Amino acid sequence: MKNAGVDLYQKAKELIPGGTQLLSKRPEMFLPNKWPSYYSKAKGGKIWDLNGNEYKDFITMGIGACVLGYADDDIDNAVVDGLRKGNMTSLNAPEEVELAELFTSIHPWSDMVRYTRSGGEALTVAVRIGRAASGKDKVMFCGYHGWHDWYLAANLSEDAALDGHLLPGLKPKGVPRALKGTSLPFNFNDIENFTEVFEKNKDEVGVLVLEIIRNVEPNQDFLNKIQKACKENNIVFVIDEVTSGWRLNLGGAHLLYDVEPDIAVFGKTTSNGYPFGAIIGKRKIMEAAQESFISSTYWTDRVGSVAALATIKKMTALNTPDHLVKIGIQVQEGWAKRLEERNIPYNTFGIHPLSHFSILHEQAALLKTYFTQEMLKKNYLASTVVYTSMVHTTESVEEYLTACESVFDKIAEAIEKDEFDNLLEGPVCHSGFKRLN
Ligand SMILES: Cc1ncc(COP(=O)(O)O)c(C=O)c1O
Repeated sequence: MKNAGVDLYQKAKELIPGGTQLLSKRPEMFLPNKWPSYYSKAKGGKIWDLNGNEYKDFITMGIGACVLGYADDDIDNAVVDGLRKGNMTSLNAPEEVELAELFTSIHPWSDMVRYTRSGGEALTVAVRIGRAASGKDKVMFCGYHGWHDWYLAANLSEDAALDGHLLPGLKPKGVPRALKGTSLPFNFNDIENFTEVFEKNKDEVGVLVLEIIRNVEPNQDFLNKIQKACKENNIVFVIDEVTSGWRLNLGGAHLLYDVEPDIAVFGKTTSNGYPFGAIIGKRKIMEAAQESFISSTYWTDRVGSVAALATIKKMTALNTPDHLVKIGIQVQEGWAKRLEERNIPYNTFGIHPLSHFSILHEQAALLKTYFTQEMLKKNYLASTVVYTSMVHTTESVEEYLTACESVFDKIAEAIEKDEFDNLLEGPVCHSGFKRLN
């Protein structure tokens, strides 16, 4: 049977540059020419493609957004209720204020809140506020923070500057050359590298942006060093919780460490799949927003605040992080055991709710594509990553791990025989940003 999603994606590439609005949803990132690409509906942990095939989502659950599962009834009912009362009007949605109180009570160091409708936008607002508050332009950062000019400017200096920050190959074309040297990357947990970049630029650095945790635990000495440098040099310290927030604990993961930012930024998980971003911060810093112009119509829509309120309340009632961690441990240990049993050289990494494995072999990209190809035949959306969700249960993870076994068998055999030519039915997946045609 023809795959309607594959055909539609071919058409999309003629109509939409890059085929989709999000690099991480490009079929080429998973299984070129075979990935279902589009969904007709999704519920809980299941997703149906345009041909009506049903898959279990053991990949990112909406690029990390849908921790409560797809089309969660409680969140959807709250949203529909908000919609029926009017999503966009000439007055403001009162839920914004209740939500601000909720954010500041969960993060007692913070006093004020602003909202956007995406993570990258929220980071850009944070950087604007940080520059306004410090009166200095340069930004030091670590990790991935979105598509905006301030961030991609790092690639104007040195082409490979962003390669170590989650997405290799991001091109800065269209970002004004005049921004060269304004965004300065440093390596996570690397005090020496941080100090080197900092010492050269400290008089001009006004903002420092850090993802508190992703693949490895932050080292407390590293956090102390950064925090001290920010305090002593009038630098606004921003923690990006777009992906780390609400997964290890309720609120930002920074609450688990001895660290106090000036601003923290949230998105994704906060609203279970509805557009939303939040910038929370100390009054003295956040007031600088009034000295700049930061304003947008759809940042005021009702759905965003209603979805975030309902999601935060439900995550709190269910204590979701406990489950996300428990399931992540089962996934990582399950992979490790099965890969080890087959003598496949591997690595597992990531905080448990954002679990990854990699096969340590020169054909790793081919083997990753093969894994996706074969798991798809077993009706799993799968790659070398599982972002855990409330809809993943101990039983469903066991079934998934059992499904992995015969694929790992074939991978072990290919490695053993050093024969890879006949595994793939299409091209190898892309690993970073590339032009599509
Ligand atoms: C840490 C982090 N910051 C910022 C962003 C950008 O968020 P968005 O894609 O909603 O613009 C992401 C998205 O993956 C992220 O993981």
